[in-house]
Amino acid sequence: MTTPATSTEAAASVDFTHIRYAQVWEDADILLSALDIQPTDTVVSIASAGDNALALLGAGAARVVALDLNPAQLACLELRVAAYRTLTHAELLYLMGSRSSCPRNPSLVERPAPSGLGDDRRPSTPPPHQPGHDKACPSTAPTPSPLEGRASSCPGSSSESSSLNPLIPPKADTSYPSHSADFSVSAFPISAFPPTRLALYQRCRPLLSPKVAAFWDSKPDIIANGIGSGGKFENYFRLFRTRILPLVHGRKTIEALLQGGNESERRRFYDERWNTWRWRLLFRVFFSRFMMGRLGRDPAFFKYVKGSVADRILKRAEHALTALDPAKNPYLHWILTGTHGETLPWALREENFTRIRDRLDRLEWHELPLEAFLDQERAAGREARIDKLNLSDIFEYMSDANTAELLTRLVNASRPGARFAYWNMLAPRSRPEALADRLQPRPDLAAPLFAQDKAFFYSAFVVEERR
Ligand SMILES: C[S@@+](CC[C@H](N)C(=O)[O-])C[C@H]1O[C@@H](n2cnc3c(N)ncnc32)[C@H](O)[C@@H]1O
Repeated sequence: MTTPATSTEAAASVDFTHIRYAQVWEDADILLSALDIQPTDTVVSIASAGDNALALLGAGAARVVALDLNPAQLACLELRVAAYRTLTHAELLYLMGSRSSCPRNPSLVERPAPSGLGDDRRPSTPPPHQPGHDKACPSTAPTPSPLEGRASSCPGSSSESSSLNPLIPPKADTSYPSHSADFSVSAFPISAFPPTRLALYQRCRPLLSPKVAAFWDSKPDIIANGIGSGGKFENYFRLFRTRILPLVHGRKTIEALLQGGNESERRRFYDERWNTWRWRLLFRVFFSRFMMGRLGRDPAFFKYVKGSVADRILKRAEHALTALDPAKNPYLHWILTGTHGETLPWALREENFTRIRDRLDRLEWHELPLEAFLDQERAAGREARIDKLNLSDIFEYMSDANTAELLTRLVNASRPGARFAYWNMLAPRSRPEALADRLQPRPDLAAPLFAQDKAFFYSAFVVEERR
């Protein structure tokens, strides 16, 4: 028997008040290849943190509707939209945390965390907000906000920690203004200061709705560390990077891995240097169902999962480290270093920045379960008009019966020829037999794309087509 409204199944069992995914951990390159976006396409996409909805937009869709039942996820998307409209590409990367250096003065590079390779200046247990952690630049903050008041008094304030931010001078430096009232733009020409992440946020803030501005105002630590770093899932990876990985491999070995090489070099490196017993043991422990449920994903997400989780992910990790090139894998790069490095997810690549920015008026987002969106469409008499669907891996939070019911409703809401793309991470989900005459599996598309999937923790990539 199905639950009457499948939307309630995920919504009822999972806590959705915090950012779970501060970035989308689903490979946009394979998604775009699968969906083959056309200029007339109406696309429905699960929002998550928004990166792939933006990629679908940049790929040229006529309209993208992004949906999420978690308002915190839509706050991530809304801030990205404001950032694309307001910032330069380099500033966007810095705000995201993709890069740890400041775009206005790249020679000022933030100090990496002692325990990791990347931008992990925050301890694994976040401290209470430290006003000096990242400070807004007064002359670049057009709209006053609760944050601004705190941030603009940062330079030299007694609670700031220069050990956390090398750009903040030590307290003993009396040449530095001790209070915001003394802050003099002429004494400290703005070009000499890199725009901190909070300053970039302040520039984006006027474009945010009051609710979303209030959300981000309450999260200065996340902004200071990069908005792509602040979800539960990213915190899980941070723990892996800062607590587990150093027990397994040193910095040089990690750097060597990320340099890639040709396939036989990668294979040899993996066999001879990477695949140690410590790697296998600690990977298995950290990516076990127990640890993932406690630290990374909500335990409710495991309701429909069968079999060993860690072994499957370990095999996929081996594939990503050998068959695929680690040097071209932004997801792996983030997991191991806390930044994207030189390689970026689709929506963050420079060549796609203007494409996305120029189309932002074709994007809409709604705090709605997909199921409620379908109800609305039907009530408004708008059926059979979706061309492409990015469904993330939402089906694995549902029973088989509810998956079948939702897929049926999605088929009804789509045009003939519409394409569906989604992932399975841990629970196997695909079109049920009952839909065989209406929804055709496309393994010819999905299998080669899955072999290229850089986000290596999924067990399947599914592409299906409405007949
Ligand atoms: C399905 S999760 C998956 C993220 C990632 N692939 C993972 O498994 O770790 C992505 C987003 O889907 C949203 N979501 C889940 N079920 C949904 C539904 N029925 N309608 C709309 N959004 C949903 C969640 O709030 C989350 O932001």
